Amino acid sequence: MAGPRGRPLIVGSGIAGLYVALRSQELGLRPTLVTKASLEESNTRYAQGGIAAAVGPDDAVGLHLKDTVRAGDGLVNAKAARILVEEAPRRIADLVRFGVPFDTLEGQVALGREAAHSRARILHAGGDATGLRIEETLRERVVAAGIEVRERAALRRIAPRPEGGWRAELALDGAADPTLLDASELVLATGGAGNLYRETSNPAVAMGEGVAVAARAGVLLADMEFVQFHPTVFHREGAPRFLITEALRGEGAHLRNERGEPFMTRYHPLGDLAPRDVVTRAIRSEMERTRQPSVFLDATHLSRDRLASRFPTVFRFLADYALDPSRDLIPVAPAAHFTIGGIATDTEGRSSRTGLLACGEVAATGVHGANRLGSNSLLEGLVFGEHVARQLLHPVRGGPAPPGAVVAVPPPHGAGGAVPAGAPSEIRSILWEEVGIVRNAAGLQRALRRLASILDAIEPADGGPAPAPGADAAFTAYLIARAALAREESRGAHYRSDFPRPRPAWRLHLGLRVGGAEERPTRAAAPAREVKALGASAVPWT
Ligand code: FUM
Repeated sequence: MAGPRGRPLIVGSGIAGLYVALRSQELGLRPTLVTKASLEESNTRYAQGGIAAAVGPDDAVGLHLKDTVRAGDGLVNAKAARILVEEAPRRIADLVRFGVPFDTLEGQVALGREAAHSRARILHAGGDATGLRIEETLRERVVAAGIEVRERAALRRIAPRPEGGWRAELALDGAADPTLLDASELVLATGGAGNLYRETSNPAVAMGEGVAVAARAGVLLADMEFVQFHPTVFHREGAPRFLITEALRGEGAHLRNERGEPFMTRYHPLGDLAPRDVVTRAIRSEMERTRQPSVFLDATHLSRDRLASRFPTVFRFLADYALDPSRDLIPVAPAAHFTIGGIATDTEGRSSRTGLLACGEVAATGVHGANRLGSNSLLEGLVFGEHVARQLLHPVRGGPAPPGAVVAVPPPHGAGGAVPAGAPSEIRSILWEEVGIVRNAAGLQRALRRLASILDAIEPADGGPAPAPGADAAFTAYLIARAALAREESRGAHYRSDFPRPRPAWRLHLGLRVGGAEERPTRAAAPAREVKALGASAVPWT
């Protein structure tokens, strides 16, 4: 049967997947939503900060745009960013219509401040439980609307159907054989890859499989080298890593090193509210200088009642460790937080393959450039989710502009063995140690060799069964390292100690395509040979 018209398959149940499911059904389509875990589990649920929109009396979309572009360090796709900020208020209105209980103050929506925002423009719900409130509300709507949902269905492989549409191969929990689903269009909303790093704010589900599955199908990726690290994640031996929201610094909390010295003004004129990549590297250098595993967030000058009501999630978490932020310093260190790159799409969510769309964290529209502005990520899922829903209703051919440079990676194939028991934690250590906050060519080449040897063992041979789930993690990790090696400059979230400055020739988006000829992922090669840098004048997205 041809991919049935009007029957899209949406993969992923974060804000983007839930929203596309709801809106496409409202528009008269019959979506199916699948997710590898339970419907509620995704990065969205853990988002604390909120969602940015220029709705305050002193704000304007132009200011939101300016802040987004400035944070993105020369690589923001201006068209995407304009759409993001202009449509933000309408998408917030949609959330209100769906029932998201945004916090208010004296009858007006309450707005918080975050780093690198020139205005207080962060809407929140339940204080620092914004992601949870949004996720719960949208999920309840999806269930109430009777949208077909399949939980514990992991995406293993995708392929276009000759008759039109796409076929997805899914592994259902407990089933020996794969399940095949045909769809008119396939929407990947599979989220980020933060949990490929040993230190991360992300939940266990954030493994970046969507990128690997798409890449194997020859879909163009972009910006994979840009992994954003959050500066303040709870750091104590034996305790889980836990996001300590940037909004706390927006309320006036300061960073101090272990000698009690505030240090951020030594690194940036905006001090504690400097862009996220700057704060992350500043903390890292303070930790190195003082030889300590963390620095501290000091909120002790803020009122206990205010902290408990504005940050109930953080407050409760800290209480489990006998910490009261109105009295105690909070030990924090940076950790992987957000995957800026992913499946290259245009602003309609169209990938390089007809009928395959992507939105949310897995997509790379270029809207965040080299460094995402805080609280623009939930917004991204909604705004481009709306464009995807409309594209599903009226599909029009199109796709992302060609990136300024492309690395070709031939399809991986290996011995097809089981994933070795130690591989997942080895991958996480490799990425953290060699593809982390500060990178260099030697470390990245080491990382690629180690990841290639894992891939060699577990990738199936060409034409074999779908790779084991652990192979996707290894492959996405490989692609991140590969892109990071190629970009020989420092920009935004990507910092190379061997190329510590931005370089004009690299003011371009870097594509990655699996299926090229030059390099097998079983070998790490020097990037200069196969990267066709076309130069700044050919940059289509800036
Ligand atoms: O600090 C935070 O609450 C993070 C916000 C974000 O990543 O957008």
